[in-house]
Amino acid sequence: MYLQSKQPKVGTTIFTVMSQLALESGALNLSQGFPNYNCSEKLVSLVNQYMQQGMNQYAPMAGIFALREVLAAKTEDLYGIKYHPDTEITIVSGCTEALYATLTALILPGDEVIVFEPAYDSYLPAIELNGGVAVPITLSPDNDFSIDWTLVKSKLTPKTKALMLTSPHNPTGKCLTSSDLDSLAAILKDSNVFVVSDEVYEHIIFDGRRHLSPAMHPDLYERTFVCGSFGKTFHTTGWKLGYCLAPKELTAEFRKAHQWITFSSPTPMQYALADFLKDKNNYLEVTDFYQKKRDKFINALKGSRFEWIPAEGSFFQLLSYKNICDDNDYDLAIRWTKELGVASIPISVFYSDRLDNKILRFCFAKDDETLEKAAEKLQKI
Ligand SMILES: Cc1ncc(COP(=O)(O)O)c(C=O)c1O
Repeated sequence: MYLQSKQPKVGTTIFTVMSQLALESGALNLSQGFPNYNCSEKLVSLVNQYMQQGMNQYAPMAGIFALREVLAAKTEDLYGIKYHPDTEITIVSGCTEALYATLTALILPGDEVIVFEPAYDSYLPAIELNGGVAVPITLSPDNDFSIDWTLVKSKLTPKTKALMLTSPHNPTGKCLTSSDLDSLAAILKDSNVFVVSDEVYEHIIFDGRRHLSPAMHPDLYERTFVCGSFGKTFHTTGWKLGYCLAPKELTAEFRKAHQWITFSSPTPMQYALADFLKDKNNYLEVTDFYQKKRDKFINALKGSRFEWIPAEGSFFQLLSYKNICDDNDYDLAIRWTKELGVASIPISVFYSDRLDNKILRFCFAKDDETLEKAAEKLQKI
């Protein structure tokens, strides 16, 4: 038998590679983006309670209504945007599915999708598996990873179907500003280009910044799919529960894709989250929680030979080693995992041309002891 690969260039992801290597080498694992602490006990007992009550069969295709309702109230309260829980909110299996279903709903063969690189690893394969063509735009540390909107405008063609945004951004920690949204709205005006907005870190945003979604812009709302996740906010990445918010006509097409991908997502977790989200503190407190972790990590690195700009959001801190050595970032991440005992992610893996900026990404969603020990090791370099 011969199976011609649909994804010949795709191998094992760097996240699996580094986590495995960290395990084998006994290294502190600051590579993959997940917490090494548990979620709230209250949340766990709510899931138990709903399991005991027999909520163990298929959820409705669009998700448990109570969860959609509380999400609608939260989105209106925090961002002033209204989505109808019946027709404009869909619960899915993680933001990964939200992104995939959105791209499946949007892309016709040959459609172009603009992606900013460094980009989260699922974006390009999801575009390509759906028959689209990814059009990468390189963001550079020399420019603090900000977006050159004139360049974006020059990349729009009659084939452009969508543009993908991530804020707060993984891996750079950069957040969109209102001027970014105005520029985007101006260049997309009168076009039929959709916006796919990945907002999994919406509550992990620092130094008094306010999360900005393109959906909050009056000229972008109609064209925006907001893809979110409960995993990062509630330390429950293993539950793979997320959602998509989009105007009615867009949601109708989104659901056509979602129903053939997973159809519906785990029931007891949805009931539990519907209750848990009623208390705003449960999601608002993560902002301060992660700002303290970021500060702990970077304060412990003061005086080291690394260079950094504090992450504006997300739970990742980039560290530049350009003053330390000239090694390729991939090889160095592997070497430091084995020899130094700290695992990180080389950010070249987030660029399709593997651009090496001499920067590594460290996840600070780790207990304080791990962060202190990691910083101590990094200080020795
Ligand atoms: C930017 C970004 N989008 C999406 C995801 C995946 O989210 P989920 O686990 O809800 O599928 C991640 C996880 O690391 C991420 O960093």
